[in-house]
Amino acid sequence: MKKFEEKKFNIPALKGISAKTIEEHVKLYAGYVKNANAVIEKISTLSSEFFGKGVDNSYVIGELFRRFSFEYNGMRNHEVYFNSLSGGPKALSAKSALAKKLIETCGSVDIFVIGMKNLALTRGIGWAVLWYDKKDDRLLASWVDEQHLGQLNGCEMILGLDMWEHSYVADYQPSGKKNYVEDFFTNLNWEVVEENFKKAQK
Ligand SMILES: [Fe+2]
Repeated sequence: MKKFEEKKFNIPALKGISAKTIEEHVKLYAGYVKNANAVIEKISTLSSEFFGKGVDNSYVIGELFRRFSFEYNGMRNHEVYFNSLSGGPKALSAKSALAKKLIETCGSVDIFVIGMKNLALTRGIGWAVLWYDKKDDRLLASWVDEQHLGQLNGCEMILGLDMWEHSYVADYQPSGKKNYVEDFFTNLNWEVVEENFKKAQK
């Protein structure tokens, strides 16, 4: 069976977010890849028993299907997050298609960033996400609880900020959540975000 591959990231020393936090966090990402593969494999095995031998394991299969979106989106969310911290901080080009779209959507890039920072401080564990909706040619933002609750159907993730406590508590303490969000934007490689936008438009 085809397997999801664990991606590698080139993350330099970051402001505020320690190398140890990144190292541990990448291990968590690897866990999502492993579990996404394991859940699919388990569903396949149990389905063979269900269809081939008449074993009544449909409840277990159903719960595994429920779990799959958690594992799969956990994998993909982290790939967007770690990619956007790879290659060192890069500013958003004012001439880029993304900058123009952000201005069209929010009035200015600064207003967008303030809005994303505010979104990131939503209470609970999850993700602050910027999406591109190709069907309507527009940018949308949403809060995603956990890894998978609040994803927007058919939209492509352009920017994702991990707001699970494992992302920041070791470096910032629980009370330093706001500083973590500030540092994320300082560390952000906007060229990667621009590229995500370009790919999503195709
Ligand atoms: Fe995470």
